[in-house]
Amino acid sequence: MADRKIIAVVGATGQQGSGLVKAILADPSGGFAARAITRDPNSDKAKELARLGAEVVAGDVDDEASLTKAFAGAYGAYCVTFFWAHFSPEKEKAQAAAMARAAKAAGVKHVIWSTLEDSRKWIPLSDNRMPTLMGQYKVPHFDSKGDADAAFAGVPTTYLLTSFYWENFIYFGMGPKKGPDGVPGITLPLGDKKFPGIASDDIGACAYGIFKSGDAYIGKRVGIAGEHLTGAEMATAFSKALGQTVRYNEVAPEVYRSFGFPGAEDLGNMFQFNRDFADMFCAARSLEFSRKLNPGLKTFSAWLAENKGRIPLE
Ligand SMILES: NC(=O)c1ccc[n+]([C@@H]2O[C@H](COP(=O)([O-])OP(=O)(O)OC[C@H]3O[C@@H](n4cnc5c(N)ncnc54)[C@H](OP(=O)(O)O)[C@@H]3O)[C@@H](O)[C@H]2O)c1
Repeated sequence: MADRKIIAVVGATGQQGSGLVKAILADPSGGFAARAITRDPNSDKAKELARLGAEVVAGDVDDEASLTKAFAGAYGAYCVTFFWAHFSPEKEKAQAAAMARAAKAAGVKHVIWSTLEDSRKWIPLSDNRMPTLMGQYKVPHFDSKGDADAAFAGVPTTYLLTSFYWENFIYFGMGPKKGPDGVPGITLPLGDKKFPGIASDDIGACAYGIFKSGDAYIGKRVGIAGEHLTGAEMATAFSKALGQTVRYNEVAPEVYRSFGFPGAEDLGNMFQFNRDFADMFCAARSLEFSRKLNPGLKTFSAWLAENKGRIPLE
């Protein structure tokens, strides 16, 4: 351990962080060691990471002192926030700032900050194409992350633009649902535009590629995706994987916003932002670059082949 560079991973029991921990542990001669940060080192997920070879330490992004302690002695830190745990952009910004200060205090040499675009740079609040939410955001869970980039000034940071996880089709209620005629469909307000997506584990695997690249991406904004697909292309891939027709139900963003589940307005705006600026989103998330960082990067079809048994068909 002493001769290896420690990467302290926030959210290590979650989707992004666990992918990074697994990527580090899968490469024992890579020169890195994984430190998994969790609020509860005694949870089953934390114990599993320890069993696999990670150092497990306590830390909470709402408790800056705990982060400084958890980052101490680490070469790198993977910093991610948890918008969907609280739905508060203000809390998310405060947590990002606490991580940035803790990384600085601990003398971390390379931070990866998992961020997204601040949509207001493309769609100012005065633009009525989509509603303003919470008084000052267009896409709250994007805008707060983009806004929080500034907190990492003065910290050696790679700003990592992530993509929509295909796992949302399993865990986030976005999987195919049967229509009145019994044919399942995915319902998304994406028009016919390409939409960057990724297997969540590949985010961590790409982050590992960034750490392995030394200083190459410090101070840079880099984006990753597994594939850029239209709604119709995703439906075709579902149909092939599941052996039955899955259709793409294109809806208008205002219809999606009206679905009423928690976060529906935020997600409706997010899809509209992705749809209306699809070229920018795809250009910022090069597949070639992602595969260079992570040669095992999965396509949607490869992800479906592994996960089709877990897709709930309601
Ligand atoms: N879903 C998508 O498609 C998507 C795409 C791009 C970006 N994102 C962003 O990804 C972020 C979430 O990342 P994720 O999906 O990896 O999270 P996740 O799978 O929900 O995992 C969250 C993990 O973080 C830990 N955690 C929660 N609150 C914490 C706190 N206060 N302090 C320390 N750890 C805490 C929990 O671990 P313990 O219980 O062990 O502490 C949990 O296992 C969100 O901000 C979201 O906007 C999502």
